Amino acid sequence: MFPEQTILRIPGPTPIPPSVQSAMQRPMIGHRGTEINELLQSIQKRIKPLFGTKEDVLLIAGTGTAALEAAVENTVSAGEEVLVLVSGAFGDRFAKICDAFGMNVRRLEVPWGDAVRPGDVTEQLKKYPHIKAVFMTHCETSTSVLNPIEKLTKAIRAESDALIIVDGVSSIGGTPTYMDEWGVDIYVAGSQKALMAPAGLACVAIGPRGWKRIEVNKAPRFYFDFLAYRKSLERNFTPFTTAISLLYGLDASLKVIEKEGVDVVFERHHLMRDMTRAALEALDLPLLAEEEFGALTVTAFKPYDIDAEKLRTYLRETFSLQLAGGQQHLDGRVVRIGHMGYCTPADILQTISLLEIGLEALGKNIKRGNGVAAAQDVYLRKGIEK
Ligand SMILES: Cc1ncc(COP(=O)(O)O)c(C=O)c1O
Repeated sequence: MFPEQTILRIPGPTPIPPSVQSAMQRPMIGHRGTEINELLQSIQKRIKPLFGTKEDVLLIAGTGTAALEAAVENTVSAGEEVLVLVSGAFGDRFAKICDAFGMNVRRLEVPWGDAVRPGDVTEQLKKYPHIKAVFMTHCETSTSVLNPIEKLTKAIRAESDALIIVDGVSSIGGTPTYMDEWGVDIYVAGSQKALMAPAGLACVAIGPRGWKRIEVNKAPRFYFDFLAYRKSLERNFTPFTTAISLLYGLDASLKVIEKEGVDVVFERHHLMRDMTRAALEALDLPLLAEEEFGALTVTAFKPYDIDAEKLRTYLRETFSLQLAGGQQHLDGRVVRIGHMGYCTPADILQTISLLEIGLEALGKNIKRGNGVAAAQDVYLRKGIEK
């Protein structure tokens, strides 16, 4: 109908608040002036609570994968042994990056849809005592599983000195995160998910143990050299040309987050997760992630007797509703609903209502209205909006 009215319910990129959109239209400025100093200083202060850290957060022009790659090349050298916890496509990506840089990669794989168990990590660390770093994914976007980072970190610390590096690309901004308290050494995020800005900014928080390793690591790197970013940040610059428009966007999105209140933002994500899960369960659509590990930002389900791709195509062509499909071996078998960032309980009700039409139109025997009613029930029991 109206192509500009796309209903974007994929797990990133996510819709952008109007204030973020207009902030990015500001005229260009030089990247070595006081305006940039102030902008970087202000963003620094305000982004830390989303990571649960007092440490600096480096801002690098690049997408989430740039942050993953940078985290690898800054901390380990070719030939060193690393452990990668793989619970889906993004854990797999971390492992592939480590392979590409010549690490001796040990993979701890769990079936897609499961979370990694701390006991299994302990076992791996006992078996391979020379592991230098453990790489893991907080929200595994491909399966909508939220790995228990606090418990995993505790298990690692009890057994090993290895660095702990977490991919928080699809969790940071929408999921309570306590990097310092949990003892995570490096946490990475991307701008286009719960942070409600366009793709293109990689955010990397680094703790003291992380810096110690980075300082002695001899592995070659240039554009992604964290030491260069730290040195520039001391003077509130970036080492290369600043992605100014994206910073304007991030600054505006942090204002939106602060206005709502960080804790309220997390509660809203919790509520949207619970509404979505309740609706899908009421429609007898099996969820990939168990309740305990269900991500706050994305929910994956199996439409089973209906072709996932046909369902997505129907919803896109009929209502301009975009849902995500499965990745790798889950391609065509799962549908993923993104519910993060600039997204509200009202958006969830709309999505579920349209999904019900799609399911019925494609011949699935559902009781239309059951999903919406279940989501409404959750809202009425737990709703935070007055
Ligand atoms: C958990 C996770 N890690 C990494 C990435 C890669 O980010 P990008 O596509 O921005 O490079 C994504 C993107 O979906 C993600 O969800």
